[in-house]
Amino acid sequence: MNRLTDVSWEDFSSLPLEEKSPYLSRGDGDGTPYHTLFAQQFDRPLLERLCALANRIRFINKSCEGAMFLKSVLAHKRAMLYFSQPSSRTFLSHLAACQILGLTTGSVRDAATSSEFKGESNEDSVRTFSSYFDMIIMRSPKQGLAEKMAWELSNSSRPIPILNAGSGKDQHPTQALLDIYTLIRSFEMKGGVDGRTVVFCGDLLRGRTVRSLSYLLTKFDGVKQIFVAPKELQVPDDVIAVLKEKGVEHSLSSDLKAAVKVADAVYMTRIQDEWDESKGESAKIDTSHFKFGAEELALLGPDGVIMHPLPRRDEISTVCDHDPRAMYWRQMRNGMWIRAALIAAVFGYEKTIMECGY
Ligand code: NCD
Repeated sequence: MNRLTDVSWEDFSSLPLEEKSPYLSRGDGDGTPYHTLFAQQFDRPLLERLCALANRIRFINKSCEGAMFLKSVLAHKRAMLYFSQPSSRTFLSHLAACQILGLTTGSVRDAATSSEFKGESNEDSVRTFSSYFDMIIMRSPKQGLAEKMAWELSNSSRPIPILNAGSGKDQHPTQALLDIYTLIRSFEMKGGVDGRTVVFCGDLLRGRTVRSLSYLLTKFDGVKQIFVAPKELQVPDDVIAVLKEKGVEHSLSSDLKAAVKVADAVYMTRIQDEWDESKGESAKIDTSHFKFGAEELALLGPDGVIMHPLPRRDEISTVCDHDPRAMYWRQMRNGMWIRAALIAAVFGYEKTIMECGY
């Protein structure tokens, strides 16, 4: 078994992502994560298990007795939500997921209200949280922070799991999980996700959800990926390198309408201008052709789905909001269930829930 205690930070951090995964698992032999940091930790069987667990949790939660049972599962655990970047959905859905399972929670949503304001390092803050909590759910603008903290905590006298709720421009593994869960549910009665065409559109350069989801889609057979963006915001080379290595059919385009005609799912994203290196840099890019409105809706097939990690600006017109193919509202609720499934699995309660009598 690979353990983070057996590897130096230097050796661990220089491994390719897929080789890091075994170090981050619970060690049950089935890949269940202990720390959840990257999409690369999920293979197809694990994705399917987590989706089944999420379905089970949402079913059990329908009855009062079932909901009370779920609330007892992790009532002995506490989770810290440490969000030093803005968030609505990811924060609230993790909070609600904890509440479903009975975890009590604490939170920091603004470094200005924590000792970081007095100059404490992120590392010391995380060590502090580990004194009081049993899990840290964290979002940070710093790309490698969650990974570094996972290594630090595993090598400390109080190891607790880290769940990455968004790291820099890099990864957002639980968003990718909820996106996959939404795709699986959307195509459940329509032949499944294998063989589908997924179109990504918007700021593909800086959107961390795109990198994580593009990777998870490689776990399905024959899923084609089309990246539609202005050339300045096209998908980065590392994402394409993964697709090439795995032999995944993909293409780059600037023609959203043409892509929508062949799409089973269209994944819209907003312009991530908080990452602009100079003020107003993104505003100079012509993004007018990268918006989904009534014309695109008319071109989308009857079984097609429109997705968005949200928040949206104007990249999906509100005329789409009541169309049955608009999945962005459902994505939010799916996120709560799949995050509850992940948290239960991280603490080793997958079987307890799957096999309970409710
Ligand atoms: C995304 C994020 O934070 O990366 N939002 C989210 O978690 N639902 C996408 C975004 O902010 O555009």
